[in-house]
Amino acid sequence: MMTEARLDVDLNGVRFPNPVLAASGCFGSGREMAGVIDLAGLGGIVTKSVTWAPTRGLSTPRMAETPSGMLNAIGLQNPGVEEFRAKDGPFIESLGVPVVVSVAGTSVEEYSQVTLRVRDLPGVVAIEANISCPNVERRNQVFACHADQAAEVIGAMTRLTTVPVFAKLTADVTNIVGVAQACVRAGAHGLSLINTLLGMAIDVETFRPRLGAVTGGLSGPAIRPVAVRCVYQVAQALPETPIIGIGGVTRAEDAVELMVAGAWAVQVGTANFFNPGAVAEVAAGIGEFLTRKGLAGPTDLRGKVQLRRNVPEPAHRRG
Ligand SMILES: Cc1cc2nc3c(=O)[nH]c(=O)nc-3n(C[C@H](O)[C@H](O)[C@H](O)COP(=O)(O)O)c2cc1C
Repeated sequence: MMTEARLDVDLNGVRFPNPVLAASGCFGSGREMAGVIDLAGLGGIVTKSVTWAPTRGLSTPRMAETPSGMLNAIGLQNPGVEEFRAKDGPFIESLGVPVVVSVAGTSVEEYSQVTLRVRDLPGVVAIEANISCPNVERRNQVFACHADQAAEVIGAMTRLTTVPVFAKLTADVTNIVGVAQACVRAGAHGLSLINTLLGMAIDVETFRPRLGAVTGGLSGPAIRPVAVRCVYQVAQALPETPIIGIGGVTRAEDAVELMVAGAWAVQVGTANFFNPGAVAEVAAGIGEFLTRKGLAGPTDLRGKVQLRRNVPEPAHRRG
């Protein structure tokens, strides 16, 4: 008789009922989705990134479809941390699903101040630092593109809270392992890999960029191989560090691929826009996959990629 697999995961002390979370910016705080789907099947929810002050976001159009994916340039639209606390705080507390609050900012000070305002919210099991933001104090360079700037933000946040901090990295770098190692040295409990990739699309009839902001973040199945590569490279270098794999997860098999590459859990972003039930369906599908393979739980998949012999050089050192 086949025993059913267990789905719960423990990311070195951060526990989720299953390994599939809704990704930041693609599910609100869950409040908006509560009437649409049953939230009980979710492993967790990562909130839309919250900043210190209300942010109106960028000009329209803010989204454009691309082959196997989409571009977005929302511009971190959010009500600011005080309204977030007032409106989403009570919902998060009553939800019964673990919530990770995504924090964003344009200076180390802003990340610190927002961290101070979300660290005590009941129901919050972790903070995700969205460090794919421009650092206004350093010529608008993106924090996550520079190991030292990424480490500065993560160090400031982790000094202020005992809530575990996950650093969310971008793949728009030549050496993601170096940035990941710097974040872990600075106190990151884990890593979320990856944010959108910077892209651009042009309407050839009008010669106009398809996004109001000209460039934007590419997401969806088109970026999944990049996410798998990043998770693999970072997991090889940091096997003890919890990694949440993100990028193009639409079906259970996509999540399994990221876990086999080294992810401890995954997030689903873009897929929610065309299937609001995607997160729960992917979680249920992982359960069926594990049971079919006779595996006990998600840890039996983690990092189990079978490399061919004579791989010329450790892939995580390339680039
Ligand atoms: C419309 C949209 C808004 C997003 N907003 C955020 C955000 O506020 N903070 C963040 O860290 N990531 C944000 N992301 C990135 C996703 O969380 C995720 O990292 C990325 O889309 C890759 O996953 P996917 O291919 O499953 O969408 C956003 C993505 C989309 C498509």
